[in-house]
Amino acid sequence: MYNLTDRNIVLCVTGSIAVYKAVDLASKLTQAGAVLNVIMTPEATKFVAPITFQSVSGRCPYWDMWDANSNLAEAHIALARQAEVLVIAPATATIVARLALGLAEEMVSLTALATRAPLIVCPAMDSQMFEHPATQEHLTTLRNRGVQIVGPEDGRLASGQMGRGRLSEVETIIGWIRHVLGRGGDLAGKKVVVTGGGTHEPIDPVRFVGNNSSGKMGFAVAEAARDRGADVVLVSGPSVLPDPVAVEVLRVRRAAEMRDAVVAACVGADALIMAAAVADYQPAETVGEKIKRRQSETLSIPLVPTPDILAEVGVRPGLVKVGFAAESRDLLANAQQKIEDKQLDLIVANDITASDAGFAADNNRVVILDSAGGRAELPLMSKYDVAWHILDKVATLLAASKLQPEA
Ligand code: C5P
Repeated sequence: MYNLTDRNIVLCVTGSIAVYKAVDLASKLTQAGAVLNVIMTPEATKFVAPITFQSVSGRCPYWDMWDANSNLAEAHIALARQAEVLVIAPATATIVARLALGLAEEMVSLTALATRAPLIVCPAMDSQMFEHPATQEHLTTLRNRGVQIVGPEDGRLASGQMGRGRLSEVETIIGWIRHVLGRGGDLAGKKVVVTGGGTHEPIDPVRFVGNNSSGKMGFAVAEAARDRGADVVLVSGPSVLPDPVAVEVLRVRRAAEMRDAVVAACVGADALIMAAAVADYQPAETVGEKIKRRQSETLSIPLVPTPDILAEVGVRPGLVKVGFAAESRDLLANAQQKIEDKQLDLIVANDITASDAGFAADNNRVVILDSAGGRAELPLMSKYDVAWHILDKVATLLAASKLQPEA
């Protein structure tokens, strides 16, 4: 169902101390349902034994070109043909050079030369080696050939020095794999605008009116849309979550800023999914200085409504609009009313009184209502899975609107 399930991924591992992270990567890809084959250079086997990868992926890695017992000459061609994506992580300076020059000296470079699958290269090396003109020129060659280079990142290196050369985080690499595998998905060529997080409406320089939204639901929708091939713009209120890879992220603070960003992003968009918990009220004015405590006085802060973003976007031909309704009572009646008030195609209703779902939780239990009166009650599931279900409905609406003759 999801874009890693049953997908043929070849993970190539080369001789860097960061090999230990590749074990985690192999494990996570396998757990996500991918068909994972691992190829190691002989140097990589000196850092981690092949049996470690066999244990986490369920398949024996390939590493010895000269193993007389196996038909590896055919194996690398078969792997190269089957692969839907080839990921080299960690990639040493040597393998980067071999790829750039087209040298086929061991199983990894052999397979990389033989495959026509997209290539993701995740360098990991000492910063001096990474910055060397030879490595930089090779990386430019690979980039110009359409290879996706991921990282390296800044931080502590094996030498104990700080610098650029660390292998990207496993989650980042998985994000790029999902993105590459998602190209050509059912939302390819579609522009999807997603909002996430809450908003902060400032009272004074240090205080604000806010809410408990974590951003997890909106970020999951953005990632799932990316994984189905969409071009995604994520407009996020304050959230500690990192930017999803291959998504254009616009960080805003107040509802008014979110409105401006969303209205601009909706130009040419096919879908707007408003998962953000936008504040409904904002202080009538922001005080310039920090408000002082006065023991004997009560403090009243007049609030005025924030701009209604969905209403301001309005009805645009070809734009599918999805709202969220977080309610603590009369969930479905309130959600149904919002479909009409905000002229939505879909609304995702969730009961925020549930302790295992909703704000800040990793899971959600929602009901998706549509403007034709349809209703889908989903059981408790991860927010990514919820996002996938919402996008199923969005994709259906987009496909149906394509069939309709122009008005
Ligand atoms: O706050 P409320 O429950 O009415 O939010 C319902 C939907 O409207 C959500 O999708 C939310 O993102 C959106 N909304 C908005 N502008 C606001 C408040 C909420 O677009 N000012």
